[in-house]
Amino acid sequence: MRFLKILKNQGEQVRQELIASNLLSNDYPIIAEGQFILIPVKSHYKDYAVVEMDAEKRPPQYATLKESLKDILTEEQLNDLVTSFDIIGDIAIVEIPESLKSEENQIGKALLKVHKNVNCVFKKLSAMEGEYRIRKLSHIAGENRTETTYREHGIDMKLDVSKAYFSVRLSHERGRIADLVKPREKILVLFAGVGPFALVIAKKHPDCRITAVELNPEAVRYMKENIALNRFNIEAIEGDAKQFAGTGYDRIIMPLPHSAHEFLDVAIKAAKPRATIHYYAIVGSEDPVENAMQKIPPGLKLVSSKIARPYSADLVQVVLDMIKS
Ligand SMILES: C[S@@+](CC[C@H](N)C(=O)[O-])C[C@H]1O[C@@H](n2cnc3c(N)ncnc32)[C@H](O)[C@@H]1O
Repeated sequence: MRFLKILKNQGEQVRQELIASNLLSNDYPIIAEGQFILIPVKSHYKDYAVVEMDAEKRPPQYATLKESLKDILTEEQLNDLVTSFDIIGDIAIVEIPESLKSEENQIGKALLKVHKNVNCVFKKLSAMEGEYRIRKLSHIAGENRTETTYREHGIDMKLDVSKAYFSVRLSHERGRIADLVKPREKILVLFAGVGPFALVIAKKHPDCRITAVELNPEAVRYMKENIALNRFNIEAIEGDAKQFAGTGYDRIIMPLPHSAHEFLDVAIKAAKPRATIHYYAIVGSEDPVENAMQKIPPGLKLVSSKIARPYSADLVQVVLDMIKS
């Protein structure tokens, strides 16, 4: 069996990334080995060291959600089961197709058995919607609680999954941006949510001055709590990014992929000459960079781009890294 050998203090972070990428193998347990942990995987992941070794499988009845439900659901129902889901802290958020509505409590209970770190299970009632990009949820098993603490890049973040946007799938992207930051930069995070981009950067670069702007008062309340929890010095501003009038920033992050283009004027004014702007957009998966570039005004030069994450069958979230000329 193939395992990734990861330093213990990075283990939870990598495990979350593997779940999000559907690369974690649930058939085998995670094994502790001195200062490392060995995580069973379906394939190589990034540049992490891979170890091939024999290991004892988990008891088969709890190996996967599907297997643990095979005596409860019919063959047809098992085929309808959506086996990928998000785990944020100790909360799992699942999709239950209409055909499985009557079985949702059983599915939630099975998930609690398979994922020992999950204590609360909710089902999605809507897509991320509205100005605050929040999803409607309904409780199906475990504790009926929507507040949790999620750990990423060595940072604890408290949040309420029903009151503020959060995505574990952007964890890798947050690490990528933090790696690009240079000493003593002045950084602006627009659409900051509960603060993940600002917090991950602050952890890696305590000498940077960071300002984070967010409209949703509940998200700002958690962001301020997270700043205090991690003892960082980040300026958190509650308000509309359209009204932001600060200037002289070296780096600006714009994670509002459905409408970031409406705020490019604010970002360009806030940016110093030669500043970097990280701009996120959801676009068709064919020619995503060309699609996203259509909304970019002259005066911003593209230096690199990548797919930050798949979004749906034919859409992707792309990030454009641009320099102000
Ligand atoms: C896609 S979420 C990203 C949140 C956070 N950066 C993250 O990665 O978890 C976009 C965020 O922008 C906020 N938002 C939407 N319109 C805004 C505006 N005009 N000014 C400031 N924040 C806004 C929403 O409330 C939401 O929290």
